[in-house]
Amino acid sequence: MTILHKTVSQAETVKLGETLGKKLQPGSIVALTGDLGAGKTYLTKGIVKGLGLKAAVRSPTFVIMNIYPGKTPVFHYDCYRLKDETDMEKIGYEEYFYGKGITVIEWADRIPGLIPETAIKIEFKICGENEREIHIGNFRLKM
Ligand SMILES: Nc1ncnc2c1ncn2[C@@H]1O[C@H](COP(=O)(O)OP(=O)(O)O)[C@@H](O)[C@H]1O
Ligand SMILES: [Mg+2]
Repeated sequence: MTILHKTVSQAETVKLGETLGKKLQPGSIVALTGDLGAGKTYLTKGIVKGLGLKAAVRSPTFVIMNIYPGKTPVFHYDCYRLKDETDMEKIGYEEYFYGKGITVIEWADRIPGLIPETAIKIEFKICGENEREIHIGNFRLKM
């Protein structure tokens, strides 16, 4: 089942992320897909806020992953520049994906073979300057 949310501002996307963040469990993996500027990083800001972490959330474009520490830490990946999945294997992604933190992956479609079935898959569509469709799949809790 996929749940569709429409947002009309970046603030609304952050709010949606916050609601989602409050419902995530340690070990959750959130796989984000959608074009540049679709709102993946803003949703991640919300997730991190919803978990009660105070961190400056930025797309980790040059370092592949940012860690936001906390009781349940967040591992924030951006796979945009990855050539293939072996890049992830080189940095030992399993330790993070299958640890006690929460993993959020931007450009998850770059590493399809590494995204588990149980991941919460979220697809973004740009519908207008400030309008976004955010399709949340594989998520049993109703939001
Ligand atoms: N409804 C919306 N939700 C999220 N971002 C929006 C929205 N409307 C406009 N924006 C703008 O789109 C851009 C989204 O940026 P970002 O979250 O970094 O995208 P991504 O990480 O998907 O590349 C920001 O400049 C933001 O201000
Ligand atoms: Mg981004």
